Order: sequence, then structure tokens, then C-alpha cells
Amino acid sequence: MLNVAILGASGYTGAELIRLLHLHPHVRIAALSAESQAGQTLHETFPHLGQLPNQTLVKIEDIDFSAIDLVFCCLPHGTTQSVIAGLPTHLRVIDLSADFRLRDPAAYAEWYGHPHQALSLQEEAVYGLTEHARDAVGSARLVANPGCYPTASLLPLLPLVKQGLLQTDRLVIDAKSGISGAGRSVKRNLLFTELDEGMSAYSVSRHRHTPEIEQGLTDAAGAAVQVTFVPHLIPMKRGMVATIYASLAAGASLADIRASLSQAYQNEPFIELLDSQSFPSTQAVRASNCCQMGVYAGRREQEVILVSAIDNLVKGASGQAVQNMNVMYGWPETMAVDALPVYP
Ligand SMILES: NC(=O)c1ccc[n+]([C@@H]2O[C@H](COP(=O)([O-])OP(=O)(O)OC[C@H]3O[C@@H](n4cnc5c(N)ncnc54)[C@H](OP(=O)(O)O)[C@@H]3O)[C@@H](O)[C@H]2O)c1
Repeated sequence: MLNVAILGASGYTGAELIRLLHLHPHVRIAALSAESQAGQTLHETFPHLGQLPNQTLVKIEDIDFSAIDLVFCCLPHGTTQSVIAGLPTHLRVIDLSADFRLRDPAAYAEWYGHPHQALSLQEEAVYGLTEHARDAVGSARLVANPGCYPTASLLPLLPLVKQGLLQTDRLVIDAKSGISGAGRSVKRNLLFTELDEGMSAYSVSRHRHTPEIEQGLTDAAGAAVQVTFVPHLIPMKRGMVATIYASLAAGASLADIRASLSQAYQNEPFIELLDSQSFPSTQAVRASNCCQMGVYAGRREQEVILVSAIDNLVKGASGQAVQNMNVMYGWPETMAVDALPVYP
């Protein structure tokens, strides 16, 4: 059995990891950490997990890591890098925070407002967008699990940009997220009364997932790519849709776009390419590790619209993390991760 610890287990991504991992035949959840909620039991923290064996959530410093093989890190960005730097080096780590996603330390400092505290670990980290990084993830010690908006954006875009089918100077990503994307800690602007029956854009052109998306697209294009990225919060608990406006490269057609995505993802259990009469929706991926995507013609010549939908807590976080763990240990990628949604 693989002994895993979940650091930051009292948050939303921690809850999803516990929900998924308890079904895994090769995994034992050996330790759960919390900060302000340390000392509570799992059943107190998450009544919906009351059927699982109970255990107490402890502070990170109270975990005996000598008995642990793999750590899932669900901590706030900035915290993670100092915590991981202090862990024994025999541990493999899947980090769900943003701390190890940006390769360029200057970009990290610019977007996160402080110098990176664990540069050697950042050099070692592998960016774990599973469908595009299997070989590297398989041998990695430290996997930087992608952000939710980058997952929803890069999955449809990477094959197309790699093949030069889109004009990369005209990419506009208009994305909407459910509120759980902001985590479980109490914040006034996330109160029900502030959010219900409303919708707003935020961090326009300065959201921290922008450089992560640009890093992936720049790698794929082999030249610097900048995007316009506008996130929105909408009053639902979970789910995310990215609507991407692009222009076809000279000589490329809509059929080429569809063929490229179809070829890239034909054997992928977690990617569903819809026909042009169907549209990705958060309902269709709720609690599933699936990314639905569709390709649509714009009204103007050369215009193409891509739409993708994921569950931010599953394919955008904990589901992809378990998928990555399965790759790291050579198990079937779908083990304990479901592509089927919960409905309604
Ligand atoms: N939510 C999403 O959709 C999503 C998607 C992709 C990636 N992520 C990333 O994944 C990470 C976790 O997200 P989340 O939504 O699960 O966050 P969350 O609900 O706010 O949970 C954060 C966890 O970290 C613990 N924590 C907070 N400050 C700490 C500290 N100083 N030292 C040790 N532990 C501390 C909290 O413990 P207490 O509650 O006990 O204080 C809690 O267990 C974040 O970096 C986030 O950006 C989130």
C-alpha cells in the first residue's frame, strides 16, 4: 500500500482528494493536516465523509513523514514552497497550489509579489497537465498540478497551437468559475449575500493564472504567446467554463481544428470532444474528471470559438492530482477517478 498524507486536508481540494482516494485499492490515507481546524476529526470537518474511518486532522509538524510515501499538498500558494522545502527528500509530492507551476522565477516574483523561496525545487518540478506530460510525470518527484483555469484553457488550445492552426496573437479566454475555486476560508466578498444572483469579472488581465496559460502556449508554439484572459465568478458551487475566441491561421480550416483535437484526444478517457450541435456544460462534468470541449464556427471569416467545461475541484484540482499519482506509480489512470458526472 502507498501511504499518503494530505496537507491542507480541511479545504475543498482536500475534501475531494479524500473522497476519491478512499476508493483507491493501492492507497492508504495515513495523515491529514489542517491549520485553524487542526484537532478536529474528519467527521467534524466534513460531515459528508462520515462513512469513512474517522481520524484527527493534525498540524503539519505533528505528522511522522518517515512512514509516508507521497504527499498531496493542498495549501495556499506561498505557504506550500516553505512547507515542501522542509519535508524529507524520500517523499514524492503532488502540489495543488501555484507554487511550482511557473518555471521562470522572475515571472513568479512578478505575479505573486515575492521572490520564490525554494528555487531548486521549482527547477525540479514537472508541470502535470496529465494528457500532455505523462512521461515527465511518471518519473517526477515533485509534480506541480495545474490550475483550474489553465487546465480548462490549455486542454483545447495545446494541440492546435502545437500544430500552428491558430493565430497566437489573438487569443481571448473568457472564463467562468464556481465559488469553490476561491477555497473554503471565510472571506467577506465570498459571502452568499455578496455572490448569489449576481456575476462579476475579476482580476481582468492580471489574474495569476495568466502566466501559467502563457507558459504552456509559449512552449507549444515555440515563440512567446500572450493571451487576453478574463475570469468571472458565477453563483454556483463548482464548475468552470472557458470560452476561447481565436482566429484560424492562414490555410487552416475548422475541419483541421476538429481533426487535430479528435486525433489528440481520441484515446483519452477524460476528454470528450462534442459535435458542433452540442455544448460543454458544468452540469455534464460535475464531480467528474472529464473535460468536455467543443469547436464552433464564428460568424466572421477565420473566426473559431472553442468552449471547454471542467469541474474545478476535480479535473481542475484533485481528480487530476489522483490521475497524476496513478501515472507516477504505473497504475491505470482511471483508478479511483471517474469520468461520469453526478447528475443533476
Ligand atoms: N479550489 C479550487 O478549485 C482549486 C483548484 C486548483 C487549485 N487550487 C489550489 O489548491 C490549494 C488548496 O485550495 P483549496 O480550495 O482546497 O483551499 P482551502 O479550501 O482554502 O484550504 C486550504 C487548506 O490549507 C490549510 N492552511 C491554510 N493556511 C495554512 C498554513 N499557513 N499552514 C498550513 N496549512 C494551512 C487550511 O487549513 P485550515 O482550514 O484548518 O486553516 C486548509 O486545510 C490552493 O493553493 C489553491 O489555489 C484550488
